[in-house]
Amino acid sequence: MCGIIGYVGEKEAVPILIKGLETLEYRGYDSAGVCVSVSEELNVIKKKGKIAELKQLPELSQINGNVGIAHTRWATHGEPNEINAHPHTDSKKEIAIVHNGIIENYYTLKKLLEDEGYNIVSETDSEIIAHLISKFYSGNLEEATMKALHFVEGAFGLVIMHSRERKIVAARKGSPLVIGIGNGEMFVASDITALMEHTKRVIYLNDDEIATLTPNNYSIKTLDGKEIDKNIDEIKWTVDQMEKGGFKHFMLKEIFEQPESIRNILRGRVKDNSVNLTLDFDFKEIEKIVLVACGTSWHSALIGKHFIEKLVRIPVEVDYASEFRYRDPLLDEKSLVVAISQSGETADTLAAIKEAKKKKAKTIGIVNVVGSSITREVSSGIYLHAGPEIGVASTKAFTSQVVALLLLSLYLRKEKNLSIDKEILDGLESLPEMIEKVLDSSEEIKKIAEKLKDKKNFLYLGRGLNFPTALEGALKLKEISYIHAEGYPAAEMKHGPIALIDDDMPVVFVCPKDDTYKKIMSNMEEVKARKGNIVAVINEKDDKISELAEHVIEVPKTSELLSPIVNSIPLQLFAYYIADFKGCDIDKPRNLAKSVTVE
Ligand code: M6R
Repeated sequence: MCGIIGYVGEKEAVPILIKGLETLEYRGYDSAGVCVSVSEELNVIKKKGKIAELKQLPELSQINGNVGIAHTRWATHGEPNEINAHPHTDSKKEIAIVHNGIIENYYTLKKLLEDEGYNIVSETDSEIIAHLISKFYSGNLEEATMKALHFVEGAFGLVIMHSRERKIVAARKGSPLVIGIGNGEMFVASDITALMEHTKRVIYLNDDEIATLTPNNYSIKTLDGKEIDKNIDEIKWTVDQMEKGGFKHFMLKEIFEQPESIRNILRGRVKDNSVNLTLDFDFKEIEKIVLVACGTSWHSALIGKHFIEKLVRIPVEVDYASEFRYRDPLLDEKSLVVAISQSGETADTLAAIKEAKKKKAKTIGIVNVVGSSITREVSSGIYLHAGPEIGVASTKAFTSQVVALLLLSLYLRKEKNLSIDKEILDGLESLPEMIEKVLDSSEEIKKIAEKLKDKKNFLYLGRGLNFPTALEGALKLKEISYIHAEGYPAAEMKHGPIALIDDDMPVVFVCPKDDTYKKIMSNMEEVKARKGNIVAVINEKDDKISELAEHVIEVPKTSELLSPIVNSIPLQLFAYYIADFKGCDIDKPRNLAKSVTVE
C-alpha cells in the first residue's frame, strides 16, 4: 500500500527512483512523484495516475541530482490528484517527505500548524509531517524528525530529505521500511523488491526506529535517540523472479508457477513418511488454535480449520484479522494464534498477532516474504518459499498457504503421537503433477471464459472443504474483472441466493467426487430447474453432470484434503481469462493494492 524508494549516492537519482517505483507499482498506482535535490534546491515532480504517466513528463529528464525520494500512492486521505500526490514539502520547500500509513491525530496537528501560520495545501494527512519537521528544524534533519514524530499518532513508513543535507532519513512505526546497503550508495524502500537490482544486503527497520543514510554510512537509532546495532540480512530472491518471463501478466505466470511453488514448500519438510517443521512451542500445552488472516489468506484459513480439526481434533477458530482484536478475544497461554499472510505486512494481521502476544498466546506465522514484519513478530513459523508474488490477485501464495496448513496439521498429529496417513503424504508428493494436468487444460477453460465474459453476476458454490474454494474463486473474479461474484455454501443457496438465479446467472459449482458429491448434485438440480447456467468443476464426467452443466472443467481426483488446491487452479484461470477478454489491468486492478499496510 503505497510504494516508497529513496536513494543517496553518486549516481543520477531519477532513473533509480523511477525504476524502483515501477517495481513497487503493485503497492498502489493512484499517483506518483519524485523529489531530487539539485544545488541545494528541491525539485518535486508529481503526476496523477500510473508511473508510466509520470515517466513521460519532459521535466523529469532535466533534474540531475544524486539524493532523492519517490512514492507511488494508494489514496487514503484525499482523492488521487496531483496536489495530494507525494512527495510533500514544507512551505519553504526545504524539506520533502514521502509517507506510507495513516496519521490518526491529523486534524489536531493540522489545526495546530495552521494556527501557527503554516500553509497546508493538500488534503492528505502526510503533508503535515513535512511542516512539523520544518517547525523543529535547526540544522539537523534526524533530530528534527525525532522531535516531530514525538507528536505524531498513527502509522508511518516515512522517508525525508532536506535541500541542504546530503542524506536521507527514514522512520518506521507500523508501515514497513527496509534499508539497502550498497557500495558508496544507500537505498531505502517500502519493500525489498525495489532494492534487489542494486543490493542483496538489507536491514529491516522495526517500529520506532529511525535510520540516517549518507552515501557511505548509515546509523540506526530508536526514535528516542539510542543507537542500535542491527543485523544485515541477505535477500534470497533473484531479479529474474521479478520478470514476467514471457507471460502476458504476472498473475498468469504465477498461476503457472504453482507446480514449482508447491515443490518448494514441500522440500525438506516431508520425508520418511513424516513431516518436519521447526516450530517454537510445546504443542501439548495448546488447547485451542485461532487462525487470523485477511482476504485470500483468510480463505486458506477456512480450509486450515477443516484440516486441523479433522486431523488433530483441537478446536479452531478462524478470524478476520481486522475483527479479531476488537472483539476482546478469549486467549491465554494455552492458545496458539497463527497469522497467515503472503506479504507478512498486512496491518490488520500484524495487529492481531500483537494482540495475541499481549494476551500471552503462543504465535506462529505462515508467511511468504522472508524478513517481513509478521515474521519478526511471531516466535516461529512456516515460510511458503513461493517466490515473489507480484500480481495483486493472490494465486500461488494461496495454494502454498493451504499446503502449509496441511503440513502444520500433520506435524501436530505427529506431536500427538498419531500416525500420518500415507495417502495424504503420497497425495502431497503428486500434487505438482496434478496441478500440471489442470494447467494443461487452460485452453478449454479459456473457451468457457470467452463464452461467459459478458455476464454481470456469478454465483460460486461448494461444500465442506470446497466452500472456501468457492469463496476464493468468486474473489478472484471480482478483483480482476470487476464482475460481481458471490461464494456460498452450496446447500445454503436455497436459503436466499436462489432468488437471484435466472437464465442470465452463471453458477460455478465446485463438485469433487467425495462425500458431498450427491448433495451437490441436488443443489445443481435446483439451479437447473431455475434455468441457471452451470459451470461444474468435477473429477470425472458422468451422464448426470453432462445433463445438468453447460460447461464442465475436469480436474484430477486427489485425496480429499488436497481437493481445494486442485480445484482452485481452474477458478484462477477462469477469472484470469475473463478479465483478459474484458481488457482489464489484471496485475493492477483498480482500487486495490498488493499489501494493505493500513488498518
Ligand atoms: O499479504 P496478505 O496475504 O496478508 O494479504 C491479504 C489480502 O490483502 C490479500 O489476500 C488480498 O485479498 C488479495 N488481493 C487477494 O487476491
